[in-house]
Amino acid sequence: MTYLTADQIDRFHQDGYLVVPNFADPAVCDRLRQRADDLIDGFDPDSVRSVFSTTDQTRSTDDYFLSSGDKVRFFLEEEAFDAAGALRQPKRLSINKIGHALHDLDPDFSRFSRDPRLAAIVAQLGQTEPRLIQSMYIFKQPGIGGEVVAHQDSTFLYTDPPSVIGLWFALEDATAENGCLWALPGGHRLGLKRVFKRDGRGGVWFEERDPASLPTDGYVPVTAPKGTLVILHGAVPHRSGANRSSLSRHAYAVHVVDGAADYPAFNWLQRAPDFPVRGFADV
Ligand code: FE2
Repeated sequence: MTYLTADQIDRFHQDGYLVVPNFADPAVCDRLRQRADDLIDGFDPDSVRSVFSTTDQTRSTDDYFLSSGDKVRFFLEEEAFDAAGALRQPKRLSINKIGHALHDLDPDFSRFSRDPRLAAIVAQLGQTEPRLIQSMYIFKQPGIGGEVVAHQDSTFLYTDPPSVIGLWFALEDATAENGCLWALPGGHRLGLKRVFKRDGRGGVWFEERDPASLPTDGYVPVTAPKGTLVILHGAVPHRSGANRSSLSRHAYAVHVVDGAADYPAFNWLQRAPDFPVRGFADV
């Protein structure tokens, strides 16, 4: 099966990303949003307080995050709390993201993530043994949705040779106002700048691979109406701004690596030995 046209494949290799409008049916997007809401019902924000922030990532990454690679866990917005440490808004409006094994542990997200069209896409983009390694539901909450600083996904999901492909789905309209993605066209040819590694002592650090850091200019907004799929090359620099608007910007993302590549043990995301990463057809 093929899904992408030759022109789309060319554009992906040219730009390092590709926008595919109308990939997911709006009703399917709504179903996933409802499912995320149901999952939040079962989350007690007083039981654990883990904030997701990319502005000081080595400091904010805790055990709860580092052991979430094979679980469904909830991470809060940095600006969710008042001065006394209490949530300023209901928990469902305080969560930054849910991660990182929804695609294996939740039947609805598993079905969505294993759409045969996605298997066709990653095969057309060169993967030979695709493995769904990570998923996240990103809320980008109204008013407090935190920015995600410029990065390359291969920094956080490193394989040798590099292989990660990001599949990002707009479950609501993503606009310049509510914190859409911004990508640097052609930036995947700059090479990988740094690698996020476990330090063996329970912490993490960035190994710098290139004295030149990521460009700060040249990013273009990737506006994405509800149902749009954005495919991201693992080395393309991308970011998203804070959401200061009154509208949320829910998105779901799955990252796929090639099982034919080496996945070093220094990667932050590790799975339990009895719960290995799986492919599109392995359910
Ligand atoms: Fe990313």
